[in-house]
Amino acid sequence: MENILVIGAAGQIGSELTLALRKIHGNNHVFATDIKDASSDIKNGGPYQLLDVMDDKLLIHFVIRHKITQIYHLAAVLSGNAEKLPLQAWHINMNSLMNVLEIAKLVEDVKKVFWPSSIAVFGPSTPRKQTPQLTTMEPSTVYGISKLAGERWCEYYFKKYDVDVRSIRYPGLISYKTEPGGGTTDWAVEIYYDAVRKGSYTCFLKKDTKQPMLFMEDAINATIRLMEVNNKRLKLHTGYNIMGVSVSPEEVAAEIRKHIPGFKISYAPDFRQDIAMTWPESVDDSLARMHDDWKPYYDLNRITEIMLMQIKKKETET
Ligand code: SER
Repeated sequence: MENILVIGAAGQIGSELTLALRKIHGNNHVFATDIKDASSDIKNGGPYQLLDVMDDKLLIHFVIRHKITQIYHLAAVLSGNAEKLPLQAWHINMNSLMNVLEIAKLVEDVKKVFWPSSIAVFGPSTPRKQTPQLTTMEPSTVYGISKLAGERWCEYYFKKYDVDVRSIRYPGLISYKTEPGGGTTDWAVEIYYDAVRKGSYTCFLKKDTKQPMLFMEDAINATIRLMEVNNKRLKLHTGYNIMGVSVSPEEVAAEIRKHIPGFKISYAPDFRQDIAMTWPESVDDSLARMHDDWKPYYDLNRITEIMLMQIKKKETET
C-alpha cells in the first residue's frame, strides 16, 4: 500500500495529478499539500493540508507521521516569474528540491520521488528542432539553470544514495482546470480562455514561434506510467524528453477559428519571446516512448475541442 505526498497540489499539474493518484491508490492514501488554498475537490476528496516545502523540519515530520512512500514535488517558480526575482526563484526552486531529496535519503519508507524538469534545461546553443535527449545544454534563464542543476542533483542522489528519483522534461502543458502562472508557455492556455471570454487574444510571443506542448491528460498518464515502471527498465534518473504537438500561436488561432470564426489574435511580444527563442520548438522523445510504449493521444484538433468545450462549461457555471 502506497502513501503519496503531493507538494504543490493546488497548482496546474498538482490539481489534476492528485485526483488521478487518488483514483489509483484510494482517496485516503494521497496527501495533498500546498502553501495556497486548493480547489474543493482536492480539499474534500481526501487529506489536504497547508504545508510549505521550504520548511524542512515540518516536511520531514509530515513524511514520517503519514508513512509516506512516494513524494511528487511539483512546486516551483516558473520561467517568466523567475526572471523578475532571480535569487528568490533560485532559492525556492533549488532548496525545495534539496529538502525533498534529503528526506528521501533519510526516511527509509520513502521509495520514490517525482520531480518535474522542463524544456527550459535547454538554451541558445541547443538545436531547436527535434532536440535530442542528450545535447548541448546551456540554459540562459534562472528557471532553466535551476532545472538543469536539479536534474544533476537528482542523478547524484540516485547514484550516491540510491534515491529513486524520476523526472520528465515537461513541455508547455495545456489544461483547463487550473491556469498556469508566470511561464513562457502560458499563452497556449490563455489563448483558449480569452477566445471564450472575449473572442480575442493578445499574445506575448510572435505569431510563428513554435513551442512543444502536451495536453494535461497525456502528461498525467506519462507521469504515472513513469512512476510505475520497474526500476530496472528505467533508462535515466534525470528528465525524459516528451511532447505532444509543436505549435505556434497562429496555428492555435487558426484551429480556434474553426469553432469561433470571429476570433481575433494580435501580437505584443515581451521578454518571454527572448526566452522562447532559447527553448526547443520540438523535442525527440523516442526514449520515453520506447521505455514503456508511451505516446500522446491528443493532437491540436482534439486539444482545441476539449479546451473550448470545458472552458465554456466553466464560464457558464460561474
Ligand atoms: N511551462 C514552463 C514555463 O513556461 C516551462 O517548463 O516556465
